[in-house]
Amino acid sequence: MTRDYLTTNKDVWNADAANWVDFAKDRWVLDPPQWGTWGNTEEQLSMLPVDMAGMDAIELGCGTGYVSYWMSRRGARVTGIDISTEQLQTARNLATQHGSDIAFVEGNAEETGLPDGSFDFAISEYGASIWCPPDSWLPEAWRLLRPGGQLVFLGNHPLSLICSPLDGAPANRTLHRPYKNIWGADWTTVEFEPTGVCFNLTMSGWMDLFSQIGFLVTRYQELYAPEWAQGTRAAIPSDWAKEYPVEQVFHLRKPN
Ligand SMILES: C[S@@+](CC[C@H](N)C(=O)[O-])C[C@H]1O[C@@H](n2cnc3c(N)ncnc32)[C@H](O)[C@@H]1O
Repeated sequence: MTRDYLTTNKDVWNADAANWVDFAKDRWVLDPPQWGTWGNTEEQLSMLPVDMAGMDAIELGCGTGYVSYWMSRRGARVTGIDISTEQLQTARNLATQHGSDIAFVEGNAEETGLPDGSFDFAISEYGASIWCPPDSWLPEAWRLLRPGGQLVFLGNHPLSLICSPLDGAPANRTLHRPYKNIWGADWTTVEFEPTGVCFNLTMSGWMDLFSQIGFLVTRYQELYAPEWAQGTRAAIPSDWAKEYPVEQVFHLRKPN
């Protein structure tokens, strides 16, 4: 991967931010939360502690800030960091509308500049979890967490990546790229729906990295589209996503 992915992804998100404002407005008021592209429910996934009173929490790649708001609604003191000025503008506008005091910070989730051990809980939903190389942002998440702290993140399942054609057309039931040595994909110049540079690993790659850093895996979830789902979202047909895992969630803990 030779492209300057940080600048590329920042430019992509600044240019696309206006298209996510309506989605963000809907998600800010969602209670209880729904997650990912297919709206899997918090009841199924338990991604957030039920009571976050007194906790310091950070969202890494917070975008429009709705996950940050869900955490502050549960009582946490919340920081959201994002590299895109425009996405943060949406987050700040919505925070003002909702009377929220979340600290939205502009910066790179791989190198936040925030103090060591300042958070009890860290989360990423399609933020750093897919837009940053895992060996860059996961050590930073580790550094930010206190002993006993938790990191939960949701992103694409590697199977959805290897079943995605190289030109960006919707996923299908053919293996289009090798699984071995998978690192992610550069979607900037594809024919259909170009975006930025995204990262992923094989399952053993994820597990090796967690263990090198010192994270314990407390839960791993593979997500499918719900039975009611129709159409194609984010280049994945619902019929595919009902039969194959389209997303994954890792629940990790920094030991005491
Ligand atoms: C799909 S949004 C996910 C956030 C949130 N769940 C949402 O949907 O609004 C992806 C976000 O990741 C951010 N991002 C990409 N690379 C980043 C980086 N290196 N550091 C911080 N944020 C980054 C983008 O700017 C974008 O706002």
